[in-house]
Amino acid sequence: MLPDVSQIKTFFQNQTVFLTGGSGFLGKVLIEKLLRECEEIEKIYVLLRTKKNKSPEERFEELFNYACFDLLKSTNANSLKKVCLINGDCQQPLLGLSDQDVDILLKETTCVIHAAANVKFDQSLKEATYNVRATRDLLELAKRMKKLKVFVFVSTAYSNCVNDHIKEDFYEPPMKTENLFSVVNALDDQTLVDVTPQLLKNWPNTYIFGKSISEDVVNAASEVVPVTIVRPAIVTSTILEPMPGWIDNFYGVIGIVAGAALGVIRTLNAKHDALAPLVPVDYVSNCVLAAAWKRGTSDGTTTIYNYVGDTRTCQTWQKFMQIVIPNCWSAASEKLLWYYCFDIRENKTWNNICVFFMHTVPAYVVDFILICFGKPTIAVKSYRRLNKMLDLISYFSTRSWVFDNDNVMGLWNHMNEEDKRSFFFSMEKVDWNEYAHASCMGARLHLLKDTPDTIPKGERKIKIMFVLHYTVIALLWYLLYKFVALILGFFF
Ligand SMILES: NC(=O)c1ccc[n+]([C@@H]2O[C@H](COP(=O)([O-])OP(=O)(O)OC[C@H]3O[C@@H](n4cnc5c(N)ncnc54)[C@H](OP(=O)(O)O)[C@@H]3O)[C@@H](O)[C@H]2O)c1
Repeated sequence: MLPDVSQIKTFFQNQTVFLTGGSGFLGKVLIEKLLRECEEIEKIYVLLRTKKNKSPEERFEELFNYACFDLLKSTNANSLKKVCLINGDCQQPLLGLSDQDVDILLKETTCVIHAAANVKFDQSLKEATYNVRATRDLLELAKRMKKLKVFVFVSTAYSNCVNDHIKEDFYEPPMKTENLFSVVNALDDQTLVDVTPQLLKNWPNTYIFGKSISEDVVNAASEVVPVTIVRPAIVTSTILEPMPGWIDNFYGVIGIVAGAALGVIRTLNAKHDALAPLVPVDYVSNCVLAAAWKRGTSDGTTTIYNYVGDTRTCQTWQKFMQIVIPNCWSAASEKLLWYYCFDIRENKTWNNICVFFMHTVPAYVVDFILICFGKPTIAVKSYRRLNKMLDLISYFSTRSWVFDNDNVMGLWNHMNEEDKRSFFFSMEKVDWNEYAHASCMGARLHLLKDTPDTIPKGERKIKIMFVLHYTVIALLWYLLYKFVALILGFFF
């Protein structure tokens, strides 16, 4: 029997993709996959802005230095020439595009993947509004793209998290888009900050609030633009491609794991049995491309995909951390600052007490020591930021949602064998132990820049830290015992 021809690869033949968010975690994996697997793609336009004093041109030069492009560079380096820079910034009206670039995009684009977003949970409402406006403006542009086949909007599985049961449907947004723009335009920055909690009501943060409104913008355009929405849950390191364990940021769960492994993060408010729908970034990317193919080759309705993994094999926070712990020894980094002593705490008050004693107090001790040595302080400020981040994450780690994912399953079942092989995203048989190990090794290599030859040094360091940790604990208990004995002796 002849093997199937990949329908997804066929779809991307001679296509020109306009990708926003190409410099991001998911964006890089999307570019790599498109170039490696869809060799006959015409072009990928990538939107880049100036950041940290680097021009889009400089950033474009550096984009392919990431390890996720190593495989591609060794097999088909020429394909990188198909990636072209488009200067722009989603914080500007019409994404800050020049007239010339608008013309090019209108003329050539056949597929838009809109993955750019400020993903900080603590961004201001004004910043979140930029995410919404960029989505609206890009959809306006898409309406004028003569050759457009599909517009994929990358949302989040939590975009409607005020509901316990999340269907693959559009929901009523927390606020109508025009009302959001009016409020943000009418108020000065400080007043806007002051009224944000009232506007958010039961929404956990401005990022999610904005994503929900953006989905409404997409919904409004869906009559005219061939849109589809992919809503990934918590995106984590690659599981398979281009290499297992690749990651480029400390944000989210891998950041917590890395922080815990380095002995920096010691407590998180989470429910032991709450589900942690972790989804590898390469599977998310494959799902995005499959969704693009499906929408681009069908005539009809807008489909939303809750890409949340396999609900039958999904890990709980407790189980995930248990899987991770052995790797703290086997993949220990020589950069670790203290022994791993992380735990999940269900009770918020108890967790806050632990935050105080395990994060805040040690931070003051460290800064005191730094002051004594005439060095600039860093710990208190860093822990303040870290504690805030952990607090924002706790909304998601203390709750479980029921996600429908029939459309994702349908998409998977609709793919032929060749597409299932090349654009694999089924999470039914994930080996979580193996994946956790690859993620820890990947975080070690790509985030901490610890090469594998430093593992013996890491093992030595963790043994020293283990002894130090338990010596300090024994000393603290001894001091407490002496203190209590002194108090009791005073009274009796
Ligand atoms: N990571 C997750 O767990 C997760 C979960 C669900 C959904 N998502 C969604 O997936 C998409 C990609 O996220 P990610 O994980 O790849 O995040 P990321 O690594 O932070 O990437 C975000 C991308 O958006 C770009 N961007 C942000 N603000 C921009 C602006 N003003 N102008 C132009 N580009 C801008 C960033 O460009 P710069 O390099 O210039 O900053 C970057 O390329 C986002 O839409 C996010 O909401 C992510």
